[in-house]
This record gives sequence, C-alpha cells and structure tokens, in this order.
Amino acid sequence: MTYRICLLPGDGIGPEVIDCAEQVLLALPVELEFIRAEIGFGAYERLGTPLPDSTLNGIRISSAALFGAVTTPPNLPGYFSPVVRMRQSLELYANLRPTRSIPHSTSRPNIDLVIVRENTEGLYAGIERLEDDGNRAITERVITRKGSERIIRKAFDLARQTNRKSVHVVHKANVLRQTCGLFRSVALDVSREYSDITIHEMLVDTCAMELVRAPEQFEIIVTTNLFGDILSDEACMFVGGLGVAASGNIGVNAAVFEPVHGSAPTLVGTGKANPVATFLAAAMMLDHLHESESAACLRNAVYACIANHDTTPDLGGNLTTHQVTEKVIAKI
Ligand code: NAI
Ligand code: MG
Repeated sequence: MTYRICLLPGDGIGPEVIDCAEQVLLALPVELEFIRAEIGFGAYERLGTPLPDSTLNGIRISSAALFGAVTTPPNLPGYFSPVVRMRQSLELYANLRPTRSIPHSTSRPNIDLVIVRENTEGLYAGIERLEDDGNRAITERVITRKGSERIIRKAFDLARQTNRKSVHVVHKANVLRQTCGLFRSVALDVSREYSDITIHEMLVDTCAMELVRAPEQFEIIVTTNLFGDILSDEACMFVGGLGVAASGNIGVNAAVFEPVHGSAPTLVGTGKANPVATFLAAAMMLDHLHESESAACLRNAVYACIANHDTTPDLGGNLTTHQVTEKVIAKI
C-alpha cells in the first residue's frame, strides 16, 4: 500500500527540517508519495492567507501530514494562527505529546509517558471579549461531554495499545467545579469500560510538581487544552528539550504530526536546527499508519545517533542539520 503524505514546510527552519525528514522517510521500507502544501506567514505574503483551502484539502486527501513550523507576525490585523485554525477546521481533537528518555547525559532516565491533550476546546475555544470600556477581559472556558469523552477514550485506548497500565486524569475540579467537574465525571464514567487500566486523579498544580519530582511515575496523562499545553512543554525539558520533542494532532479523518518547536528564525541557514524532533514526529506518523516496524527502525536510528554524539549543537554535538540526517539514514 502506498500512503500519500502531505508535507507542510511552513516558515523559518520548517522547510529545512521537513526536507530532511522527507529524505529519511524515503530511506525506510514503506511506500510513500509526497505532496506539499503552503502554511504560515510566507503563505500569507504570497497568497493572502496563512492557511489556504487547498492546504486543508491536501491534508484531507492524504493518509497523514507532516508539518514543520510557522512564524507568527506581531500584531498584523486580520491575521490568524494557521495552527489553531487547522486543528479546529480538521477537528484534530487529540494532541499527543510523548516524553521519553533519550540516551544523552542531559536526559533524566526511565521516563516514557504520553500527554494526551484536548486540542479544540477549553480556554482555547476562542471565545473572548472586552467589557467595561476595555477594563474587563473575559475568556470563556468551554468543556463539552462529547469533547471530554473522545479525548478520554483516546487516552485509555492509547494505554491499551501501548501496554501501559495507568492513566492520570489531570484537572482542577476543586475550583473549576463546572468545567473541570464535567471533564472529571466523564473520565470516571469512561474508565469503568477499561477495567484493565488504573485511573488516577491528580490536580493540575500537583501534577506540575510531581512531573518535576518523579516523572517516571506517569504513563499517560489526559487533560484539558491549556493544562496540557503547559504540562507538555514542562515535560519535554527532562528529555533533551525542543530539538527532540515531537507531537501529533489526531482527528477522526485527518492527522498532522509536527515538531513542538517553532520556526527558530535565528537558526535559519546556519545548519544548527536539530532535525530530530521532526524525525520523531515522522516516526509517530508511521505508528499512526500502523507501519510500526518502520517507525521503530527510524526511532532506533535516531537514538543510536544521539548515543554516538552525532548531534547538532543543542545536544552538545558539532554536526549540521544535514550531517545528522545523513547519519540517521546510514543507521537506517
Ligand atoms: P522556537 O521554538 O522557534 O525557538 C525557541 C528556542 O529553541 C530558540 O532558542 C531556538 O533557537 C531553539 N530551537 C527551536 N527549534 C530548534 C531546533 N530544531 N534545533 C535547535 N534549537 C531549536 O520558539 P520562539 O523563538 O518562541 O518562536 C519563534 C517563532 O516560531 C515565533 O514566530 C513563534 O510564534 C513561532 N512558533 C511556532 C510554533 C509552531 O509552528 N508550531 C510553535 C512555537 C512558536
Ligand atoms: Mg506549547
């Protein structure tokens, strides 16, 4: 079977790391064909929109998409975040952020957790207003039963698929009694269908502290949009940081995988951009396509290079973006 992959290079270092990921994917024993689509500030300058309809269609007609990064211009009237819009337009409701120890001196050991973040509602539902002549700002936090149920199911299903035994449901229902209260009660209901998985509840502030104290206790964390955004950035710092952090945005009919980092404008053209985050995003994409052998092959090649100190400067090495790519291909 041939999979069509939609590549979304974007801005800044996005095109560099996506080109490298394309080369690495071509070296794997899996049949892929690539299409490319525009996203970001460059697309806005060329086409008048940071997220053309043709891009959404390109993602829809593909088995999966691999996205680099975009630059957000400051204060441009009428400009919108193409990433947030893409997640909402394609209903990419689950944001998966794995955090796994890497064979490197700066990485803490024995960590292998996934943060499963609701990606379309919560405080990022986009319902904000100013009142009282601009002296009172209000954001509405929207939590729905449907939105909570599908993200919690995703977390429990992922636990089963990956042979994990526990799910931490993270909320603040003691204060946010309605919104987090609904999320919590849906979680307790859904968990009854998964008697093989243990559910733990944890308040979000406790979770932030426990992640620093003993991250190895967690297997799967499921939580609402803003909490997940913050906790997942926190967690990635224990295992190599932004140069290796990958994520997936999963919907019913589409899936977009991406490095967590942004467009890193100061690194463009320097050869210092670490392509590994995008390689690990590509590995997640292969897992999503049930090409788990190729996914494992890619991951093992990446970890072997890191263990060998074949890395870009952010991980202490002295190789360029392209040299790391060549090393990974050689390992494959
Ligand atoms: P950033 O992630 O681009 O950079 C943060 C720091 O990490 C910088 O020191 C950068 O040099 C370093 N870094 C990032 N990626 C790296 C890589 N692959 N290898 C080595 N070092 C790396 O975040 P920043 O600087 O806050 O934002 C830059 C632009 O990116 C902004 O316009 C921002 O809006 C956008 N952005 C886009 C995101 C996306 O497309 N998903 C996510 C975050 C920021
Ligand atoms: Mg973030």
